[in-house]
Amino acid sequence: MNQKYCFKSYFSQQCTQFWDNTKIDKTQKYLMEDLYYIQTPFETIPCNLRLNKKNLIMEQDDKQYSTNVENAGLELITSDFNNDQGVRITKGNYTFEFFGKIKSIFDQLKKTSIQFNFTQRYTIKKMIAKGTFATIYLAECKFTQNEYAVKCFEKRHINNEKDKKNLIKEMQILRLMNHKQLLTIYEVFENSNYIYFVQELLKGGDLHEYLERSEKLSELKISQIIQNLLNGIQYMHSQGVLHRDIKPENLILRQKNNLNDIVIGDFGLADFYKYDGNYLYRRCGTPGYVAPEILRGQPYDYKVDIYSIGVLLYILLSGRRPFIGKNNQQTIKLNEIGDINYDDIDCSSEALSLMKKMLESQPENRISILSAKQHPFFTNAQKRESQKTKISLKLDVKCIPQQEHLCVSPIITSRPLNRHSMMNNFTLYTPRQLPRLSHDVKSIIKTESNEIHRSTISRQSLSRANLRLNNQFTNLQMYL
Ligand SMILES: Nc1ncnc2c1ncn2[C@@H]1O[C@H](COP(=O)(O)OP(=O)(O)O)[C@@H](O)[C@H]1O
Ligand SMILES: [Mg+2]
Repeated sequence: MNQKYCFKSYFSQQCTQFWDNTKIDKTQKYLMEDLYYIQTPFETIPCNLRLNKKNLIMEQDDKQYSTNVENAGLELITSDFNNDQGVRITKGNYTFEFFGKIKSIFDQLKKTSIQFNFTQRYTIKKMIAKGTFATIYLAECKFTQNEYAVKCFEKRHINNEKDKKNLIKEMQILRLMNHKQLLTIYEVFENSNYIYFVQELLKGGDLHEYLERSEKLSELKISQIIQNLLNGIQYMHSQGVLHRDIKPENLILRQKNNLNDIVIGDFGLADFYKYDGNYLYRRCGTPGYVAPEILRGQPYDYKVDIYSIGVLLYILLSGRRPFIGKNNQQTIKLNEIGDINYDDIDCSSEALSLMKKMLESQPENRISILSAKQHPFFTNAQKRESQKTKISLKLDVKCIPQQEHLCVSPIITSRPLNRHSMMNNFTLYTPRQLPRLSHDVKSIIKTESNEIHRSTISRQSLSRANLRLNNQFTNLQMYL
């Protein structure tokens, strides 16, 4: 039992003493070292404390004691004798208390320990989202007024040992991460009913919400998103961790509408790479996004994350998901087979080539992160974008074959474009749809209206041009 808070901590481990003489890795740097004191009813005893990532080391009378403080209980206390501030660390039934200038050691200990006074420190302001196991709230620190996102797990929903282990792993992995494109956790709290992860507040909503309300993105934008994700995942892999659940719902924009700063969140299915494939959850992920080898029950490795980023690339380029069954079971089946339809995706050859390489069904044929990052899809993205701007100058028009002439006027609305309908009817489309349609339109305008174009379009500025048709000038709006 925790002394002050009467519940059994999820994180407490069996131990027979506080100082367990954990072996200290001498090569690991100390995060801090300082002099504190221990208070007994009879005396105060000075003690030198050092901290490395997970261990607390005490030196006293030429003796060294050490203990692993990962997931130990952590509380701020006040001395009964002189009102000095102190720290209480709890491991199982054992506690250790020390006093002195404790601010910086407390701030370090917070990163690996569990605290119990969430409601004294934070005010929950509103719910952000409800996930599978947890609810995400916007919370404010009562002392600094800074805002955070708090992932709150209700203990009664996590009652079997496996789920418990998984939650501890999610926390361990989150704490290990230190990269701009990966979610940051600051501290963890627990009380009798809940566990709280205090995380960086990402203010832009998740990519799933963004895509629901946005039009198709340019290839340049898409390449920036994918590149950032590859950087984040590369860091994660360098720490020996697989994410296993990359999908738009788990990718969160740091700021509203800024797609250049997306953060990978939800490490609920992340795990440490296991050579023997013996993961806590072996067959997991989200149907429709998961690498086929996971569904086939084969051993798998880091390549599973490349596949899921490939699925995201497919969605961004085509506007549809690669595997859509009538029900979950069918989606899983299609996903397992991994047969993907690349028809009618209007994208550059570079985009298509990278997408196919990331979505290789056999992991050994799938592109690696390193090669993916060097793919021309990224290196030529800027060049392709400037070429496209030139094309859309000619294209942002409504084309109406009228008698022998072709009329051109500002674009108003949309209808699916194909070569045939373009020849026989008129087709209208919005500027935002143009990137998707640009190649078709370009060739049709050329074949249909070479004469008119050559002689009558005079570009006055980048955004406007005049076009003479039947000796009349038509104002032509250009969208860049
Ligand atoms: N740090 C955060 N800042 C803002 N919103 C977040 C944050 N973390 C999660 N969310 C939102 O909450 C949703 C659920 O969070 P997630 O960690 O994915 O929970 P679950 O494991 O239940 O899926 C996300 O899809 C996202 O919209
Ligand atoms: Mg999620």
